[in-house]
Amino acid sequence: MAIANLRFQPRLATWPVYLAGLLPALWYVYQIFHGDLGADPVKTLEHAMGEWALRFLILGLAITPLRREFGISLLKYRRAVGLTAFLYVVLHLLVYLLLDQGLDWAAIWADIIKRPYITIGMAGFLLLLPLAGTSFNAAIRWIGGRNWNRLHKLVYPAVLAGAVHYVLLVKSWPLEPLVYLGIVLMLLGWRVWRRA
Ligand code: HEM
Repeated sequence: MAIANLRFQPRLATWPVYLAGLLPALWYVYQIFHGDLGADPVKTLEHAMGEWALRFLILGLAITPLRREFGISLLKYRRAVGLTAFLYVVLHLLVYLLLDQGLDWAAIWADIIKRPYITIGMAGFLLLLPLAGTSFNAAIRWIGGRNWNRLHKLVYPAVLAGAVHYVLLVKSWPLEPLVYLGIVLMLLGWRVWRRA
C-alpha cells in the first residue's frame, strides 16, 4: 500500500551518507593497526568486506520499494549507497587477490574456474563494473537517462550473484546467508510483482 501523501524525505546532503558508508572500512583500518582481527586476520577482513558489500547492495535495492510502499524517499542517496557498496566489493576483491592469494594469478584463475562460489562472485563483480563506471553525471548525460536506467538493471543479477555466492561458500546451512538470500529474493520479487 503506497502512502502517497506522507512522503518522508530527509533533507541531508549526500556527503554524510558517504561518510557513514566509510565507517565500517575505517573501523577495520583501525582494527588492523590497534585492534584484534582474530586468529586469521585475512579471513576476517575478507568476510567483513563481503558482508558490508552485500548489506549496502541490499540497501540500494530497498530504496525503490521503501518509496513506493512506505513513502520514504531516499532516492537522493541511491548513488552514494551504490558507490559505497561497490567500494566494499572492490575492497573484498582486493583482500582476496592481494592478501589471500598473494596475486598468484594461476591460483586465482584456478579458483575462478573450479569453485562455483568464486565464479559467481566474480560474475557479480563484473556486472557491477558498468554501473560504477557510469555513476557520474557526465556519463549519465552521455548514454542518456533511458539507457542508463536499462543498464542499471544489471544491479539485480549482480546482487543475486552476491547472495548466491555467500550461500554457496558455506559448507553447511547456517542461517545468515539464507537470510540475506531471502531478503534479496523478496526485493527482486517485489519488482516482478509491481513491475517496477
Ligand atoms: C557482488 C560481489 C560480491 C559480494 C556481494 C560478495 C559477498 C561475500 C560475502 C557476504 C561473503 C561471506 C562473508 C561472511 O562469511 O561473513 C563472501 C566471502 C568470500 N568472497 Fe565474496 N562477494 C562478492 C564477490 C567476490 C569476488 C569477486 C571474489 C573473488 C574473486 C570473492 C571471494 C570471496 C571469498 C574468497 C570469500 C571467503 C570464502 C571463505 O570463507 O573462505 N567474492 N563474499
